[in-house]
Amino acid sequence: MTSVQIRTATSADIEAIVLVHKDAFKGFFLTSLGDGFLRELYRGFLDGEQGLLVVASRGQEILGFAAGTTEPDTFFKRLRRKRGAIFFIRAIPAILRRPLPVLHKIYGALFYKGDQPQTLHQAALLSSIGVAPHFGGKSLGGQLLAGFEQEVLSKGLKFVYLTTDQENNDHVNSFYTKYGYKQESQFMQQGSRPMLRYIKPLGNI
Ligand SMILES: CC(C)(COP(=O)(O)OP(=O)(O)OC[C@H]1O[C@@H](n2cnc3c(N)ncnc32)[C@H](O)[C@@H]1OP(=O)(O)O)[C@@H](O)C(=O)NCCC(=O)NCCS
Repeated sequence: MTSVQIRTATSADIEAIVLVHKDAFKGFFLTSLGDGFLRELYRGFLDGEQGLLVVASRGQEILGFAAGTTEPDTFFKRLRRKRGAIFFIRAIPAILRRPLPVLHKIYGALFYKGDQPQTLHQAALLSSIGVAPHFGGKSLGGQLLAGFEQEVLSKGLKFVYLTTDQENNDHVNSFYTKYGYKQESQFMQQGSRPMLRYIKPLGNI
């Protein structure tokens, strides 16, 4: 059987990444924005000099991905400037279905700044990680984290941080804890959504 390889994504992987995203994040807001939106989002992680996009592949098949940025402060601003209009156009079908909640959430997503802890420097943000559900629990998520961390180290950075929901999210929280991420703080997103921020020092810090 062909073995799983963790590698930097290429533009040829985008369609498959969108499929994995839709499977792994069923019912999530970003998924509801449609394939066109997701395509632009993951292209953004691929194209930007500051973007990071790693995949787990087996032959031609993509089984999982991890996406993030080495420059959380400016990455989303640049993404908004370069792709804001196209994001909006891609989201139009979802906006027409539920205008107010979708516009409100898109506004929040487009003005997202990465929620970086103020005292943390030389840190990359892990924005999204997903594994095809039929491949869950086989340590692929752990391998993707390791591949992502390797890319971060190769850019000379020393930490990875991420945020995730505190509530109804035990398996994700235990996933990050299992792989050495330490809970740093709790905060409220958009006033009412309790979030946890995790940090992991890389290398021999
Ligand atoms: C989170 C995710 C990436 C984990 O990938 P994975 O390949 O299943 O993870 P691994 O096999 O490397 O790690 C397994 C560990 O994760 C946690 N975990 C994963 N799935 C779990 C489940 N269904 N129930 C309980 N714990 C679970 C446990 O800590 C488990 O360790 P254990 O087996 O020793 O108990 C995957 O479940 C996924 O894609 N989820 C949907 C998308 C998502 O929520 N992403 C994270 C937020 S961006």
